[in-house]
Amino acid sequence: MNVVLIGFMASGKSSVGRRVARRLGYRFLDTDRFIESELGCTVAELFATKGEAYFRELEFRLARRLSALTNTVIATGGGMPAAPGNLAALKAAGIVVFLNAAVEEIVQRLERDTRRPKVQGGELKDKVLHLHAARLPLYAQADVIVDTAGKSVNRVAGDVIRLTAEALHARTASAPAGASPEAAAKPQTA
Ligand code: S3P
Repeated sequence: MNVVLIGFMASGKSSVGRRVARRLGYRFLDTDRFIESELGCTVAELFATKGEAYFRELEFRLARRLSALTNTVIATGGGMPAAPGNLAALKAAGIVVFLNAAVEEIVQRLERDTRRPKVQGGELKDKVLHLHAARLPLYAQADVIVDTAGKSVNRVAGDVIRLTAEALHARTASAPAGASPEAAAKPQTA
């Protein structure tokens, strides 16, 4: 079983993911860092030299390789669920958890960021609001939704572990004929 963290840039996927992995005794994989190590350059360099579409193609292919992993917590890039079919590929890889951070906190954390090409230049808050509104309906299709506002990394990690176990149970229980698909489709929330 894998735990797949999705959510906006700077929503805590990597720090929470590392903590969850440590507590469960799982491996940890960050899709951006994985792409960077395979390509030998940073995501920002990829955007600058090859363009965003090239990066999205790499992400698209990687999303389909993740189901080969086991006992891994996977932190995904914020745009990964946006491409058609990617969310289904992530669900095939494990329980998908949306870390729902408050927009104000995201903006604050991104203010000094120089690493993320999607939010460089221009009015940061406008960019975040626009992209966040467009992506929220996709993120909301996760198996589990954890609101992170005002919570410590440790508390969020605890919520992720508890709700992932419940979602896994619901997924397994809904497999036999006669089970309610509505119940299984409803995300667990904290
Ligand atoms: C992106 C998010 C980044 C990275 C790239 C694009 C996005 O990952 O994949 O800069 O489109 O939201 P993080 O969510 O880890 O910052």
